[in-house]
Amino acid sequence: MKLNGLTFKKYLTASHLKNRVKKLAEKIDLDYQKKTPLLLPVLNGSFIFAADLIKQLKVPCKVSFVKHASYEGTAGGQLKTIIGLNESVFGQDVLIVEDIMDTGETLKRVSEELKNLGAKSVEFVVLLQKEKSKKNPIKPKYIGFEITNEFVVGYGLDHNGLGRNFPDVYQVVPNG
Ligand code: IMP
Ligand code: MG
Repeated sequence: MKLNGLTFKKYLTASHLKNRVKKLAEKIDLDYQKKTPLLLPVLNGSFIFAADLIKQLKVPCKVSFVKHASYEGTAGGQLKTIIGLNESVFGQDVLIVEDIMDTGETLKRVSEELKNLGAKSVEFVVLLQKEKSKKNPIKPKYIGFEITNEFVVGYGLDHNGLGRNFPDVYQVVPNG
């Protein structure tokens, strides 16, 4: 498959993703059975994963969204908030929903912000965890798939804005 001049190969199929998302939802249901978590998808990349995951949850839950933009090339990975929280997270059990953990900087910043706002607990559900992100002190409680460091698209993830609509996840073929 070609996208923006790069070659990609199919990496995780829609049915693989579906099965794994169901398992993640079951685990979350168990862990949050006496709570009402606030699910917080980080836009844009997590919109499809979040929708599929939330549809599978049986535990009563709330949903709100945040959106950040990272300034590329900025050492220290400054984050700018595009859409912020529109409800109080004070005393809430927040579960951040992220498409992919690459460096982990996004999750680190979001979790610091939420703790400052008085969240009772802050956990992460991440669909894809890249190998290099394991250096980050942030350890997501729920991980869909551990993957290698190559760029991926599909199932919400993009390359220069394209590819979010693909039902499967594709990985770039280096020198492809
Ligand atoms: P971070 O480096 O963990 O802060 O990741 C920042 C954001 O970059 C992620 O939330 C994704 O939206 C995006 N990103 C990182 N790696 C990839 C990739 O392989 N494909 C598509 N988007 C990615
Ligand atoms: Mg993202």
